[in-house]
Amino acid sequence: MKTALFCLAAALLGTSASITPAQTKVQEESKVSFAKEIQPIIKQSCLRCHAGDRASKGLDLSTHEGLMKGTRFGKVVIAGKSAESVLYKAIKGLPGGSKMPPGRNPSLTDANISLIAKWIDQGALKN
Ligand code: HEC
Repeated sequence: MKTALFCLAAALLGTSASITPAQTKVQEESKVSFAKEIQPIIKQSCLRCHAGDRASKGLDLSTHEGLMKGTRFGKVVIAGKSAESVLYKAIKGLPGGSKMPPGRNPSLTDANISLIAKWIDQGALKN
């Protein structure tokens, strides 16, 4: 039994050791893509309320232009500064932004929140 567990552990360690360096390298080198990575998240969780004429608070998240323009009251993304961006505070549930998606709608996953933060910190590019 002990041997079996040991083998399992070794196998698991072996797998992660062989994947991790490559993944880390890709993450360090690549920029988050707005079109490929950010837009699908927004489409799934936000557009229902933030698109076109009926966009909540005038915030149209269906295009990069709309996203960067912000709400009727001002910008929600400060390029390069996720911590100061209302959009980031909103999805993270921090003070300074209404929690998004609101109410009982499921929050974004931590992975997706990090991805959006990274995209903002890399300059909120239309890439
Ligand atoms: C169920 C509808 C709904 C969904 C889904 C939704 N929002 Fe909102 N959003 C609203 C409403 C309503 C407001 C205005 C709330 C307010 O003023 O307190 C708002 C406001 C905002 C604001 C401005 C917040 C502020 O404090 O000024 C941001 C940024 C925002 N939403 C981003 C998002 C993002 C990003 C998503 C997807 C992850 C999302 N919303 C999903 C309804 C929604």
